[in-house]
Amino acid sequence: MEGGTGMMITGKARLAGVLGWPVSHSQSPRLHGFWLEQYGVDGAYLPLPVAPEHFAAAVRSLVDLGFRGANVTVPHKEAAFRLCQEQGNTLTDRARHVGSVNTLVFTAEGHILGDTTDGFGFIENLRAGAPLWQADAGPALILGAGGAARSVIAALQDAGCPEILLTNRSRARAEALAADLGGAIRVIDWEKRDDACGGVSLLVNTTSLGMTGQPALESDLSALPQSAVVTDIVYAPLETALLAQARQRGNPVVDGLGMLLHQARPGFEAWFGIAPTVTEALRTHIIAGQK
Ligand code: ATR
Repeated sequence: MEGGTGMMITGKARLAGVLGWPVSHSQSPRLHGFWLEQYGVDGAYLPLPVAPEHFAAAVRSLVDLGFRGANVTVPHKEAAFRLCQEQGNTLTDRARHVGSVNTLVFTAEGHILGDTTDGFGFIENLRAGAPLWQADAGPALILGAGGAARSVIAALQDAGCPEILLTNRSRARAEALAADLGGAIRVIDWEKRDDACGGVSLLVNTTSLGMTGQPALESDLSALPQSAVVTDIVYAPLETALLAQARQRGNPVVDGLGMLLHQARPGFEAWFGIAPTVTEALRTHIIAGQK
C-alpha cells in the first residue's frame, strides 16, 4: 500500500485535500491516500499549507479549481465555520450546533457545505471498540472543555446520553461550554474529578494531558464502575496511562486513534463517492506513519 497518490490519476481525477497551518503533521493525506488506493479511485488528496490570512481566498480557489472539497484543521476550523455562514453556503445541523467545521464539500454550483465530523468519529469509534456501550445507559464524565470536548459532548447528547458531567482545570470554560451547548450538563470542580467517576457509564479524556511531551493526567479510578467504558482522544501514545489504568482494573477501553480514522469517512464518501471502512490494515498503516 505504499506509494500514495499518482498511480490512478487521469484527467478526470477527483481532487480533495486538507488545509492547515502547518499541515505537515496531518495524517489525513496518508489516511485518504490509503483508501484511494484500496478502492482504486481516480482521485487525489493533497496537503494544502495555507496561512490564516489566506484561508478564505484559498478555499474559493479550490472551488474554482474544481476540487470536490477539503478537510480543515488547526487553526482554520472557526474560520471555516464563518465562511460557511456566508450567503450561498450551508452548514450541517451538527456543524451549526458545535460551531466549527472540519469538512467542506463543494457543490457543482460552487457552493460550500460545512460539516463537522469529529463527534461522528468519536461515536463510531466507541461503537466499534466497545460494542456493548449504550449511550442511554448512564451519565458520561468528560475531562476537558476545549474544542474536542465540544464535539464529543454534542455527539453524546445527540446519541441519547442522559447526562454529561463536565470537569475542566478552568471551571469558567466548562461553565461557558455547558451554557452554550445546553441540555443536561453538570459542571464539576477539577479537583473532584475522581469522586465524579462514581455511577458513570463512560469516561472520556479530551484534554491534552497524557500525550507524548505533555504532563500526565493524574486520575484515581477507584470510584469508577467496572462496566464503565474508558476512552481517550489522545492517541500518541496509543495506550495512555489512563487507558492502561482502566484496562488493568477490568474496564472496557477504547483508544483514540479510531476517532481520527472514523471522522474521515463522511468526507471521503462525499468527495470520492465510496463509503470507506476502517480496517486493521488502515490502523497499522497510520501507526507506521507516525514513527
Ligand atoms: P482541543 O481543541 O484539542 O480540545 P484546547 O481547546 O486547547 O484543545 O483544550 C485543551 C484542553 O486540555 C482544555 O480542557 C485544557 O484545560 P483549560 O481549559 O483549563 O486550559 C486542558 N489542559 C491542557 N493542559 C492542561 C493541564 N496541564 N492541566 C489540566 N488541563 C489541561
